[in-house]
Amino acid sequence: MNKVETSFLHKNQFGDDFLWGVSTAAFQIEGAHDTDGKGPSIWDVFTSQKGKIKNGHHASTACDFYNSYQNDIDLIRELNIPNFRFSISWPRIMPTGVPPINQAGIAYYNKIIDALLLAGIEPWITLYHWDLPHDLELKGGWTNRESVNWFSAYVEICVQSFGDRVKNWMVINEPSVFTGAGYFLGIHAPGKKGITNYLKAMHHVTLATAAGAKIIRNRIPDAHIGTTFSCTHIEPATQSSKDIEAAKRVDTLLNRTFIEPILGMGYPQGDLPVLKKLNAYIIEDDLNNLSFDFDFIGLQCYTREVVKSSLLIPYIGAELISAEKRNVISTDMGWEVYPPALYEVLKKFNAYNGIKKIIITENGAAFPDTLKNGKVYDIKRTHYIQDHLEQILKAKKEGLNVDGYFVWTLTDNFEWAEGYNARFGLIHVDFDTQQRTIKHSGLWFKDFLS
Ligand code: NOJ
Repeated sequence: MNKVETSFLHKNQFGDDFLWGVSTAAFQIEGAHDTDGKGPSIWDVFTSQKGKIKNGHHASTACDFYNSYQNDIDLIRELNIPNFRFSISWPRIMPTGVPPINQAGIAYYNKIIDALLLAGIEPWITLYHWDLPHDLELKGGWTNRESVNWFSAYVEICVQSFGDRVKNWMVINEPSVFTGAGYFLGIHAPGKKGITNYLKAMHHVTLATAAGAKIIRNRIPDAHIGTTFSCTHIEPATQSSKDIEAAKRVDTLLNRTFIEPILGMGYPQGDLPVLKKLNAYIIEDDLNNLSFDFDFIGLQCYTREVVKSSLLIPYIGAELISAEKRNVISTDMGWEVYPPALYEVLKKFNAYNGIKKIIITENGAAFPDTLKNGKVYDIKRTHYIQDHLEQILKAKKEGLNVDGYFVWTLTDNFEWAEGYNARFGLIHVDFDTQQRTIKHSGLWFKDFLS
């Protein structure tokens, strides 16, 4: 397995300016949950509660990136990956979410940034990847309108501390997922439920996205500013008008609700009537303060969803038909493997006026790995990535806007409510010893990028 030739793809086909990278998130890799003054996040608390995470897993140590960052940065370099996306842990910078600042937290991220630059790797910072300081949750978290101010103060500190060396910034990661799973369904931290929590969180997170972006623009004139959205290709289960309408509502919820206000289009209340309840939380100038002229939009696409109408599901009147029920090939997350979804979402988001640049800031797959004689075989992941790259090439050939691709993710890590069983890494981690082994997919990616 020294030379990996499983495809004719090469990065040159995508053009010289195409951005290649790998994405991670603080809570999923760092560990060191209370080291050097870090405060608890909502995920530290959620994972300590019984029955929330598969097999009772938690992320107190995770991949120990906090201590082994130099080794992992060396591995990024070995894989020829030029851009590294990581997130800042807010409670490491501000243990209670508001000042005082924990200087050890600032020093830690300075070490990461300096080590990346020394290795010739460009740092890409995500400011919020779901680990809200727990003390802020005690005050209502994202359901409290004050969250916009808390977040703004935190962003100020980050840009002042790191903006001299970091030019690529993403404000908030997948707002639709963390508000939906964390504030409506209660299956992610902080475990809140209900439409009121969800809608309040939605509005405040969207205001915070625009507010955070403005702070970066003011403080770092040459910054390259984006924010990331999850997106999914949606299809109706049948051509009946009921299913078509249901699919439209799900599409609105999953793909449109967060980006349209950012693009200055307001919330898509016409196509998803429950969003009219948001009006109770929208005040004064809010509608003007929801938008920002981003330099790029990060799209994160893994699969498609097939939707049927259902009177049983409140607010949305629709149900997703799982990959298992449809009897199609799926990953360890239960997500259908359907590469054309990536092409379809590129087409969809290209149709918006006002998106200047699209970067695929996450794509990848959880599959089991086969370990043999010290090597890790994961041919399904290799094919998954190759097949999705083919879809990007197809989109590019048709003249669609797509400027980069970041694999999710560098090493196997803590996959939220799934714990450690869902392995997404290009690099295998033995969580007993923290030993890293580059997988077949990682070796292929390395060759591809050579
Ligand atoms: C989206 C999230 O941003 C990331 O944290 C997660 O691990 C991957 N997708 C896979 O589920």
